[in-house]
Amino acid sequence: MEKPAPADHQLDQLIARRWSPRAFSGQHVEDEKILSLLEAARWSASSFNDQPWNFMVARQADTLAYRNMLDCLVPGNRAWAHVAPVLMLAIARKTFRHNDQPNSVALYDTGAAAATLTLQALSMGLFVHQMAGFDAEKAIETFKLPDHVQPMAMIAIGYPGDPSNLPEDLRAKEVEARTKQSRLPLADFVFKDEWGNPAPFL
Ligand SMILES: Cc1cc2nc3c(=O)[nH]c(=O)nc-3n(C[C@H](O)[C@H](O)[C@H](O)COP(=O)(O)O)c2cc1C
Repeated sequence: MEKPAPADHQLDQLIARRWSPRAFSGQHVEDEKILSLLEAARWSASSFNDQPWNFMVARQADTLAYRNMLDCLVPGNRAWAHVAPVLMLAIARKTFRHNDQPNSVALYDTGAAAATLTLQALSMGLFVHQMAGFDAEKAIETFKLPDHVQPMAMIAIGYPGDPSNLPEDLRAKEVEARTKQSRLPLADFVFKDEWGNPAPFL
């Protein structure tokens, strides 16, 4: 389903078309496309080119891995994400590879890689819904994550589906148009001279 952002300023179509659906179709996602998503993340920018992002990936056909991934989600997310043919867990490496010192921007870089992946998905007809609603401790245990990494977000990926197949409580929200009111105005987060001073060109 298309829900273009009612943006105040010119946006590239990919950015305007991005949103986070809960209705996914069961349509198979081709491995070639999954590879393109991960390749997009790979070419994201990062401090010291450290590339601190990592992704656990489970396709629906990877029955056990997919089940393990689903089991980490909070029930509210599992209720719709179980239809998405691909689930990922984005994981940040908290220390630099070249000196093992803390990387204060590892989370920033990992988020940027996930955003890049999201736009690549859109360009291929796929939609992405990221989720912080998962049990991080369970993910650490299930996927045997080492101490120097941090699970950040789970990601549901697939072709858009029919909202009428969603659990009833989620249906109405899914088809609601996106509104300008759902976003902060630029003046609330773009400053000049001092924190809180909206930039005059806004
Ligand atoms: C890191 C992150 C965590 C999120 N966690 C959840 C989640 O657990 N469950 C959910 O339904 N949506 C989740 N979302 C989706 C947001 O609610 C959504 O991006 C936001 O409402 C803006 O809507 P839009 O993405 O459709 O523009 C998350 C998004 C991000 C980026």
